[in-house]
Amino acid sequence: MKTIIEPFRIKTVEPIRITTRDERAKLLQEAGHNVFLLNAEDVLIDLLTDSGTSAMSQNQWAAMMQGDESYAGSRSWYRFEASVKDIFGFEHVIPTHQGRAAERILFGITCKEGDVVPNNTHFDTTRANIEYTGAQAVDVVIPEGREPATFHPFKGNVDLEALENLISSVGRERVPMILITVTNNSGGGQPVSMENVRAVSKIARAHKIPLYLDACRFAENSYFIKLREKGFAAKSVKEIARELFSYADGCTMSAKKDAFANIGGFLCTNDPDLARQEKDLLILTEGYPTYGGLAGRDLDAIAVGLQEVLEEDYLRYRFASTRYLGEHLSSAGVPIVQPPGGHAIYIDAKSMLDHIPPSRFPGQALACALYLEGGIRGVEIGSVMFGKKDPDTGAGIPAAMELVRLAIPRRVYTQSHIDYVVEVLVEVHRKRESLRGLEITYEAPFLRHFTARFKEA
Ligand SMILES: Cc1ncc(COP(=O)(O)O)c(C=O)c1O
Repeated sequence: MKTIIEPFRIKTVEPIRITTRDERAKLLQEAGHNVFLLNAEDVLIDLLTDSGTSAMSQNQWAAMMQGDESYAGSRSWYRFEASVKDIFGFEHVIPTHQGRAAERILFGITCKEGDVVPNNTHFDTTRANIEYTGAQAVDVVIPEGREPATFHPFKGNVDLEALENLISSVGRERVPMILITVTNNSGGGQPVSMENVRAVSKIARAHKIPLYLDACRFAENSYFIKLREKGFAAKSVKEIARELFSYADGCTMSAKKDAFANIGGFLCTNDPDLARQEKDLLILTEGYPTYGGLAGRDLDAIAVGLQEVLEEDYLRYRFASTRYLGEHLSSAGVPIVQPPGGHAIYIDAKSMLDHIPPSRFPGQALACALYLEGGIRGVEIGSVMFGKKDPDTGAGIPAAMELVRLAIPRRVYTQSHIDYVVEVLVEVHRKRESLRGLEITYEAPFLRHFTARFKEA
């Protein structure tokens, strides 16, 4: 059969509220044209993020009932640790309340003023946590990874020459680690090939620099490798994931993505000294090393979710539903990052709204228009999120791309929800010339996209 169906039935439903256009216009105004500041109740289809928004399975809920809430050495911790080690293979596993807590602990210990950390593309919290230490976060994705319309099977790959040049220009001692984000979220959810990870690992070892993976979507990346890279078709997704991690010295992980959990994360390393320092810091700010800020029941949900996400029926359906959205938008003329990524479709707002310059935030304008038109919430990944200011002139430096991400929560929406999203987008695309740019009226000193307020320019 050519129809790829959801490999599950729905047992519990969560109602969603239908709003009118007039209501949404008022709500958007009150939220300062920032969709982060809307109440979730006023959103019809919430594609803001795939993080923490998964529908958990009956096995996860059942596992939660067995959560052991002992402060130290709980049964939940041992089940969690065993599940992580089974897939990730690292020697030390440190639980955290979410991915950025793992980042803060890792970078807080290993990075300092003047250091440089390369990555294919740093995610916003990764960049912010590195820069908070005084180090510099540098993106070294291949050129195709910055060109939305270009097709490439592994657009998340690291540019090996750029990486080598960066290390030799700043000096090995200023590079505390190399990171690779799998899949490359800020670069369009694009995968990284095994060949590329192997090659980066070789460079890292030659310079004695540790290699870390930002592993949030490791299962999706592994499935892309299975589908697209020669020599992997017959391997299981778990085998591929294990090989991927075998080239790294550790990882940071947000369990809110490819672990189907609503909260959680962890940090892994093979370095015993570093693990000890990380645990010391963990105790100070997150909790004891056998729970790290999580309830025992959350550890159990993650332990089960990590294994479930590797099931191929699930991954086949996941990719089919994301691709379905991408292909329908693309055939209606809506410019998207090609080819579609695993967890999201990224609309190329720069190309769609070419009458709005980056200084007037075309991505933000498009995100607002999607809400106004159909109650859909996406997120700008462009100059609001990644734009900088010239330290001398104060002038805005735009981001490399102006995207709007429509992230698809795992196992949450049905095909008719997705058909509705297509319809709304096609309508906004038809009216695109009437959309106006925005000006910032308030911004925080870092991670400004979460709380900034705007007015129409
Ligand atoms: C690639 C990547 N790294 C890190 C994080 C941070 O994880 P968390 O939101 O759990 O703190 C995210 C979250 O979206 C992400 O996508």
